[in-house]
Amino acid sequence: MRALSIIGIALGFFTAVYYFLDSHLDWFYIFSPAELHELSLKAIEAHGNDTAAVVKYIVEDLSAKQPLHVNLDEEWVFNNAGGAMGAMYIIHASITEYLIIFGTAIGTEGHSGRHTADDYFHIIRGTQLAYAPGPGSFSPEIYPQGSVHHLKRGMVKQYKMEEACFALEYARGWIPPMLFFGFADGLSSTLDFPTLWRTAWVTAREMGVNIFRGKF
Ligand SMILES: *[C@@H]1O[C@H](CO)[C@@H](O)[C@H](O)[C@H]1NC(C)=O
Repeated sequence: MRALSIIGIALGFFTAVYYFLDSHLDWFYIFSPAELHELSLKAIEAHGNDTAAVVKYIVEDLSAKQPLHVNLDEEWVFNNAGGAMGAMYIIHASITEYLIIFGTAIGTEGHSGRHTADDYFHIIRGTQLAYAPGPGSFSPEIYPQGSVHHLKRGMVKQYKMEEACFALEYARGWIPPMLFFGFADGLSSTLDFPTLWRTAWVTAREMGVNIFRGKF
């Protein structure tokens, strides 16, 4: 009986803390969709389809504003998730936000995943298509270079990049639960352990460094 009431009190406590934090997540954010969109447009205007230069421009600008929370080291890794394959470079990862460059030089297609965060996909090169708002629609959503594809927390879409396409992807919400989606294909399909290990290491290191510096 006593153990049960302790569990009950603990559950009640953590539920209250969760709802409180969940409604105040914006206290923890250091990036904003409006700022990232403006920055993406400026980078494209400056460097067009020289995507390496676009990426450099974006990261250097962010690093000047957030020197403690931006990873300047372009540690590219392959990523398989939701059946799609591409490569990514982790710019920032913390408990409530991540910022990466994601894309592929040849195209890919897959399931967006159903996430505990809002996802803003700033297209810096190429075009992304989405099958949305859901099953039963008959025309694609089209996101060209310079546009933002916002996948709302909890929603899912099928998406496709027909050819070379890269995006500055910004997620804000609860990041740790998203990692299951990020690792599931690697653990159940590709079994590419060196890539999984490298991805886990860079993600954990960035989250750790940010927590250590007081960014949750
Ligand atoms: C990038 O290349 C595509 C395809 O050739 C072209 O339509 C687009 O205008 C180019 N973008 C810029 C900013 O030069």
